Amino acid sequence: MEVIHSPDDARRYVWSLRSQGRTVGLVPTMGALHEGHLSLVKAAGTCDSTVATIFVNPTQFRPDEDLDKYPRSLDEDLEQLKNAGVKAVFVPDQERMYPEGFSSYVEPPEVAKPLEGICRPGHFRGVTTVVLKLLQAIPASHAYFGKKDYQQWRVIEAMVRDLNVGTKIIGCPTLRESDGLALSSRNRYLDPEQRRRALLLSKALSKTEAEFRAGETQIEELQQCMRRTLLGLDNAAAATVGSEHGSTPIQGMDKIDYAAIVAADTLTTLSSLDRPAVAVIAGYIGKTRLIDNRELNIS
Ligand code: PAF
Repeated sequence: MEVIHSPDDARRYVWSLRSQGRTVGLVPTMGALHEGHLSLVKAAGTCDSTVATIFVNPTQFRPDEDLDKYPRSLDEDLEQLKNAGVKAVFVPDQERMYPEGFSSYVEPPEVAKPLEGICRPGHFRGVTTVVLKLLQAIPASHAYFGKKDYQQWRVIEAMVRDLNVGTKIIGCPTLRESDGLALSSRNRYLDPEQRRRALLLSKALSKTEAEFRAGETQIEELQQCMRRTLLGLDNAAAATVGSEHGSTPIQGMDKIDYAAIVAADTLTTLSSLDRPAVAVIAGYIGKTRLIDNRELNIS
C-alpha cells in the first residue's frame, strides 16, 4: 500500500490509474478508524482500486470543539487499511492542505443551513472546503460517505453537483453495534454509564419508526415520541438501557440539540409526511456530542 503525502503525487497516482480506464473509489476519513470506515472501504471495493485519505481537518472544528482531543491512531489506521485491500492512502500534513496565505473557502450549499448549520456554524464550510481539496488531489470516479453523517452526505452531494465535480458520491448505510449504537470515533469518549445512555438515540429512532409504521403520520407526535425517549421519559425504552445493576430508570441525554423529522433531500421542516423523510437527532451525553438518524420512506 502506498502512503502519499503530497496532493501532486496523489493526483499523479490517481490519474495514472484513471488514464488506463480504471475506476477509483475514494474513502475520505479523519482516521481513528472503526468498522464503519471499513464498511466504506468494502463498498469502494466495487471500483478497480480504492484510495483512502486520513486528515483531521482543522477548519471543520469550531474553537470550542475537540480538535486537539480528536483521537489519532495513524499506525493502526494504516494497518487496517492495508489489510482491507486499500491501494494507496493520502496522508497530507496541515501545511500541505492549508499553506501559509490560504484564504479560499467553499461556500456550502443551501442544505447545509438547517440542523448542524445552526448548531455548528462554520462546520460545513470547513467540510466542503476540505472535501473539494481532497477531490482535487484524488480525482476518483466514486467517493463513499457514511449516512451516519446524513447532512454531511447531502451537503457533499449538492456541492459536487453544483460545482460540476466529476466524482459520483455514494451514501453508505450506518454501521451499528449489536445493541444498536451507531459506530462513531467519538464513542470511545463514553464511560460505561454514558455508553448505556447513548443507546437512547437508536431506541428513540426505532420507537419513532415503529410508530410511523403503525400509522402515526403527525410529525409533531413523532417528534414528541423521540424527545420523550431521549429524555429517559419513555419507561419501556429507558428500562431496556437501565443501570448495570437492575432496571433503575436512567437519566436521559444531557442536552438535545435537535430531534426532528425533516425532508430527506433538503433537510428542511415538513408540514406533512408526504415525501421521503429522515428522523435526525443530535445532542450530548456528558461532554460527547452524538448524532444518529433513520430514513422514513413513504410507500
Ligand atoms: O466524515 C468525516 O470523517 C469528515 O468530515 C471528512 C468527510 C473526512 C472531511 O474531513
